[in-house]
Amino acid sequence: MAQRETWATRTGFILAAVGSAVGLGNIWRFPFVTGEGGGAAFLLVYLLFIALVGFPAILMEFVIGRKTERNPVGALLKYGGNAWKYVGGVFIITGFVILSYYSVIAGWFVRYFLEGFRDSYGGHLEAYGEAGAMFGDLTAGLDAFLLHTVFMIATVGIVALGVRRGIELAVKVMVPALIVLLIGLSVWAFTLPDAGAGYEYYLSPDFGVIADEWTDILPAAAGQAFFTLSLGMGVMITYASYLGEDRNLAKDGATIIGFDTGIAFLTGLLVFPVLFSAGVDPADPGPSVIFISMTEAFADVTGGRLLGIVFFGTVAIAALSSAISLLEVVTSYAIDEIGIDRWKAAVGMGGAIYLLGVPATWDIIFIDLLDYFADSILLVLGALLLAILVGWVAPQVAVDELEKGIGDLGGLGQAWIWAIRVPIIIVLIVSLYLGLVEYAEFLSGDFADWLDANL
Ligand code: TRP
Repeated sequence: MAQRETWATRTGFILAAVGSAVGLGNIWRFPFVTGEGGGAAFLLVYLLFIALVGFPAILMEFVIGRKTERNPVGALLKYGGNAWKYVGGVFIITGFVILSYYSVIAGWFVRYFLEGFRDSYGGHLEAYGEAGAMFGDLTAGLDAFLLHTVFMIATVGIVALGVRRGIELAVKVMVPALIVLLIGLSVWAFTLPDAGAGYEYYLSPDFGVIADEWTDILPAAAGQAFFTLSLGMGVMITYASYLGEDRNLAKDGATIIGFDTGIAFLTGLLVFPVLFSAGVDPADPGPSVIFISMTEAFADVTGGRLLGIVFFGTVAIAALSSAISLLEVVTSYAIDEIGIDRWKAAVGMGGAIYLLGVPATWDIIFIDLLDYFADSILLVLGALLLAILVGWVAPQVAVDELEKGIGDLGGLGQAWIWAIRVPIIIVLIVSLYLGLVEYAEFLSGDFADWLDANL
């Protein structure tokens, strides 16, 4: 193998990891799963999950990556032994499934970005009568198909060329821009007539709801936490494998999680006041929540047209830096295991993923079909298998690796391992079980109904 690349700058690794983590998970997925999960009740479980499971889990991927300096499949083989390479197979399937519909949704953002050039968002709103009708019209059919195609070509192109510098640069501009924009818009949302009801729904948890609905909330929070942090399929293993030096991984992990969680939280502060003021039930519209609330927002604020173009464009770029990380894992696997060159691997894998996403441009039910399967099942399964590896198969290696760049952890290293060994593994098993049950319900319920109605 050629000499391995390492990150160009000290912050390059953090930027790339933040670039992977910050994406549609924060802006598109977070507000609608929070809305469906009952608002604040979901938020609380989600934040606990990020801190108690997400943080230990990101460290697991980091130590495996930095220790082995391999792609996820090779890394697991080297770290755990021959049988573990099959876990890499789960990662590849996950990457396939996620990227297929991720690209379709990113295409919707491109579409809304382009619509800003045609007319103001207020003008569109008037023409369609309501934001939901606009969403329905723009996100299914030939246009959605074409933009899925365009987005996938861009992703494949960047991965085929191996432009890592591009990612670093894009993230440096994009993440601060996104934060400034979200803060500005949440200040505006604060002035809306029904902002109070929005904050209450989002921020004031009803423990009764958690007690009654934990079987729905737990798998959804687990899936969302892994999805938004890019965990459970080897992205962070791959990125940490390019670390030349021994850095403080705990500090880096906390920084990445801080940015990612902060951006999602800000999105909620913006979305919920808007939905309540527009009279939209936050639990109802699902994947269209962000588009509906943003159309309302940009129709209302001064300079909304320009802000809308900037917002939708920024999210599309954020999605691109995440999509790249997904395709990079799959591509590096194909390069190493099938032995084809980077260009062929990116085009071949990207092409197959593209085809898997095509049905989702036709009907939104396919987004649910793929999204729920990947998030609540595959990512949780991937994280569970990694937890078994680090917690039970080779714990001391992990602690030793984590201590490089931090120093002697004393009892903390053991605390980390024991947290993984028992509580985290139990939570993941329960989440996975509940996720499977719910998915089976979806398949025999909504999806079966859709099949009856359409075929
Ligand atoms: N984290 C990204 C987002 O929130 C999506 C993503 C990129 C991802 N790479 C991943 C999700 C790997 C799971 C696994 O948009």
